[in-house]
Amino acid sequence: MLYFVANFYLNVQLLKMMKFQGSHILSVSQFDRDAIAKILNVSAQMAPYASRQKRCHVLDGAILSNLFFEPSTRTRVSFGTAFNLLGGFVRETVGQENSSLSKGESLFDTAQVISGYSDVIAMRHPQMHSVEQFAQGSTVPVINGGDGANEHPTQALLDLFTIQSEMMHFNKGLDNLNIVLMGDLKHGRTVHSLSKLLSLYNNVKVTMVSPKELQMPDSVISTLTNAGHQVIVTDTMAGNLSCDVIYQTRIQQERFASKDEADLYRGHFSLNKSVYKQYCQENTVIMHPLPRDSRPEANELDIDLNDLDNLAIFRQAQNGVLVRMALFALTLGVEEQLTAYEKPVNWFTNKNR
Ligand code: CP
Repeated sequence: MLYFVANFYLNVQLLKMMKFQGSHILSVSQFDRDAIAKILNVSAQMAPYASRQKRCHVLDGAILSNLFFEPSTRTRVSFGTAFNLLGGFVRETVGQENSSLSKGESLFDTAQVISGYSDVIAMRHPQMHSVEQFAQGSTVPVINGGDGANEHPTQALLDLFTIQSEMMHFNKGLDNLNIVLMGDLKHGRTVHSLSKLLSLYNNVKVTMVSPKELQMPDSVISTLTNAGHQVIVTDTMAGNLSCDVIYQTRIQQERFASKDEADLYRGHFSLNKSVYKQYCQENTVIMHPLPRDSRPEANELDIDLNDLDNLAIFRQAQNGVLVRMALFALTLGVEEQLTAYEKPVNWFTNKNR
């Protein structure tokens, strides 16, 4: 335990000194504003490679182990895509039932073995703090792809990158942001991580709209209020959605004891065009970490919003590739070498037109 605390503290200090190389990425608490600015800047540098204007093979020969012990589409595939876009190889394990964790092997032993096969590891697991536990056994950097209801640091970073990009159109930044977080704020790890990151900026107003039973954990609210930000906690949409950004979330059924219990809360805070026009500002940007639950009983983000320019959800998901490329470049220490390893794109692509 002492080793774990010392190791985690060391990583936090290393990142705070902007030394990403060789460090685990386990929690957004590791970052200060300078570190975030560095990540967002390197993310922006990845755009020509992600849009296939150029290739970059700076990670030629490197191996990512992508371990997903809980379902995922975006995080798993974008981690893999990001690594491939930098020239590296990806080895995947999907589902605990396909791994020797199902035979009783510990996270520590798994980490000792897999880190011997890899240069970096991305991991998702249903248990809170499991990725930290795994990192204790790893000899290579481990990036948290979501640990239960605890944190989803790379999602929060891509959310911040998205907010910054979207706000730029309105000559705004991350300071003085007025944001609404809505839905299952108790179990939604993305909003936990995002709130902690927002606490680092100036004069942020956060309105938290959820059923009373699914309110944001007090510890997350305190992080914002202790930093001097305005937090409104409410279970009412009317009069509370006038903001720069509305960030909708899904009822996290997998964190409830049963589907019946989750069903009690489904569909209470559906955002559709009528609600948007009535309560949001003209230019309110709509975000959602996805997946959105489009079943009629949930319908938390109606497809009638799809034709709005301010619906940023798919731009947000694409930004995940840029941010994850940046995190690989930083943790593997190649962020200054990108241009030296560029190549032209030889095949037909409509991505760069
Ligand atoms: N946003 C997100 O984490 O999506 P996936 O569960 O599909 O990875």
